Amino acid sequence: MKRLLITGAGGNLGRMARSRLTHLAETIRLSDVAEMAPQTSGEEVVPCDLADFAAVKDLVDGCDGIVHFGGMSVENTFDVILDANIRGLYNVYEAARQTGCRRIVFASSNHAIGFHERETRLDADSVLRPDSLYGVSKCFGEAVARLYYDKFGIETAIVRIGSCFDEPKDRRMLATWLSADDFVSLIERVFAAPRLGCPIIYGASDNDESWWDNSKVAYLGWRPKDNAEKFRAKFAGDPPDEGTAPAVRFQGGGFAAKGHFED
Ligand SMILES: NC(=O)c1ccc[n+]([C@@H]2O[C@H](COP(=O)([O-])OP(=O)(O)OC[C@H]3O[C@@H](n4cnc5c(N)ncnc54)[C@H](O)[C@@H]3O)[C@@H](O)[C@H]2O)c1
Repeated sequence: MKRLLITGAGGNLGRMARSRLTHLAETIRLSDVAEMAPQTSGEEVVPCDLADFAAVKDLVDGCDGIVHFGGMSVENTFDVILDANIRGLYNVYEAARQTGCRRIVFASSNHAIGFHERETRLDADSVLRPDSLYGVSKCFGEAVARLYYDKFGIETAIVRIGSCFDEPKDRRMLATWLSADDFVSLIERVFAAPRLGCPIIYGASDNDESWWDNSKVAYLGWRPKDNAEKFRAKFAGDPPDEGTAPAVRFQGGGFAAKGHFED
């Protein structure tokens, strides 16, 4: 690729991607509303509010691919979610259509399916069961990605990211953890694949405890290598995941358990 855009480049995953994806394009364009480190060689730092279509169109213009991380990454008021994740997401896709960008990684979330119970094994055809307004916004994003593939042929890897941190932070993340190495190898596969389509991919490492089945995207050839099991002993003293409380019953954990943000 000549130019790859990373939105949300000032955030956790954006900073990780900034340091790990330089080999994918001659130039990496980095964007956020938040502060970003100054640009270095091979980079273009372009501040932009995703809610501003004219600015997003300029941002996307000239990019061959997009890794779309920008947006509100946890639950918030509807107005905040609306601008960052709904209007912002739409702006990215419409700008991609108008400027000819053909391939996108969309950072969806396990919170699009967070009201499924933990005993249910999900795959790409499982029904959406969002656990929050944040989760609803990811369902919207997945639908826009699908529309722009079916109607305009813009390919998207819809990645329902589990928990992408250095290490799992609680026992739930033993099932949902995605290592940075595995995420990087997934993004590499997405941009290397001759044909991508618009697959739904569960973004989790090769964890022993697993709620998600990626067999329908085997054609991508992504093989996560890390396993959260090595961290299990860290959570030995935590209360057991027993009972019917929403935080332990549902895949979305605390997001499913929380009350409505607006209350
Ligand atoms: N980290 C995870 O484990 C995880 C899990 C599931 C989904 N995701 C998704 O992955 C993406 C990145 O996650 P993260 O952990 O890096 O989150 P983050 O909050 O650290 O980063 C998101 C970035 O988006 C930017 N942003 C927010 N609103 C914006 C707007 N209107 N215009 C431009 N930029 C805006 C923020 O300033 C922030 O820097 C998010 O979309 C999140 O929903 C992450």
